[in-house]
Amino acid sequence: MRVSIVGAGYVGLVTAACLAEIGHTVTCVDKMAERISGLNAGRIPIYEPGLEALVADGAAAGRLFFSTDLRAALADCDVVMIAVGTPPRPQDGVADLRFVMQAAEEIAQAATRPMVVVTKSTVPVGTGDRIARLLHELHGRTDLNVVSNPEFLREGNAVADFREPDRIVVGTDGSHALSVMRALYAPLIERDVPFVVTSRRSSELIKYASNAFLAMKVSFINEIADMCEGAGADVSDVALAMGLDERIGPRFLEAGPGFGGSCFPKDIYALIKSANDAGTSMGLVEKTISVNETRKRRMARKIEAALGGDVYRKTIAVLGLTFKPGTDDVRDSPAIGIIRALQDRGAHICAYDPKAGAEAMGSFPGVMLAGSAMEAATGAHAVVLMTQWPELVELDPEALANVMHSPIAVDLRNCWDGRRFARHGFAITAIGKPQIGPSSENGKVWDAPNPKPASATDDERPVS
Ligand code: UGA
Repeated sequence: MRVSIVGAGYVGLVTAACLAEIGHTVTCVDKMAERISGLNAGRIPIYEPGLEALVADGAAAGRLFFSTDLRAALADCDVVMIAVGTPPRPQDGVADLRFVMQAAEEIAQAATRPMVVVTKSTVPVGTGDRIARLLHELHGRTDLNVVSNPEFLREGNAVADFREPDRIVVGTDGSHALSVMRALYAPLIERDVPFVVTSRRSSELIKYASNAFLAMKVSFINEIADMCEGAGADVSDVALAMGLDERIGPRFLEAGPGFGGSCFPKDIYALIKSANDAGTSMGLVEKTISVNETRKRRMARKIEAALGGDVYRKTIAVLGLTFKPGTDDVRDSPAIGIIRALQDRGAHICAYDPKAGAEAMGSFPGVMLAGSAMEAATGAHAVVLMTQWPELVELDPEALANVMHSPIAVDLRNCWDGRRFARHGFAITAIGKPQIGPSSENGKVWDAPNPKPASATDDERPVS
């Protein structure tokens, strides 16, 4: 089958390369000429594990092409996918549909034959209807059939998520469009991947509801972690046992510094807006946002407490800046708010991230960027594990202790072995578990009570 994808961004590129892998001939179209010429030369504009090799394979097999010419790309297509950004509008955080509607407009003008127009971009409920109105009523293109087919690709795992999805969702009321979509995903459907057929509106909502639910799960376990600290319990054990209940499931129960990224925060705001438009409210989802927002200041207070209650003029080594490992994306990373709150209290921050380099530093004003974790930790009063990159999780506490000013560690991902750190003289604080002090001379490790949690009033102030 011949497929065109409008947008050579994260979703567009991954989808294009993966559809080429399962045998389709795919042209990925973007207006950014530089991006397209780079892709034609094998340069991938984003970091995503496995993508570069997949793009190279697709190109070598003669099934994956990159172009700026939409008309030419659509000339012999059966399917065109819209995979452009829906960034939050600065004034209200609601999804900006400008690029989606523009892509639809251009498809209406460029398509010279009937085809299925698939919305891959994450769009509010009713957007498919808007696109259909534009194509059918404004342009008279009743031969263009609009289908919703949301993506569920996690950054850092996107290729694997495409190859082995939990489900494929298709929203359409047209039988021809449905048979085209079945043919598109036939190699996956043959492997028994659930194929959910529904209305366009339900399909659009499935995407938002899924992201909001996952974010809610994360905020829930984060609140349980806070409670564990006050109650002397261990959130890892609580999450493990909760997750063994099949009705709950183990995933997205890792307590941490809060969720970030380009999807959860944006999609939650968009869902709330859609709910309001539909005359309902989303109390749980609204609370999910506020719990996540206040968490940044709370994490800063936690780091401050680990340093004896004062970070003024102290140097803190922050390890990891991306919102999660496996990506170079720092959009809405919890690191941004936590670092800002520490800087507000007078701390100097020296950071290291395996992938976020100088170009990401616009989001971290005043932060010194080190070339390695050990360089960031040298002379630091405390080290903070912000993102669980494997190379940071595997750091040797003895080597860290040797270069630091004082052996204080804050593990915001519960990935460091606290007792091992303690044996090398560290006082280590994690999330939702007892604080561990340095080993005594006979090698015994002691558990210290956690410092009093920050007051709610202070936590609820937004990070300036
Ligand atoms: C998310 C969804 O998981 C994808 O299914 C969806 O397709 C994508 O958004 C999208 O809308 O495009 P992503 O933003 O890449 O994917 O990241 P996740 O792996 O979902 O993580 C989101 C945030 O939650 C991260 O900051 C992560 O550190 C945090 N998280 C996740 C936790 O703090 N604890 C957990 O147990 C899981």
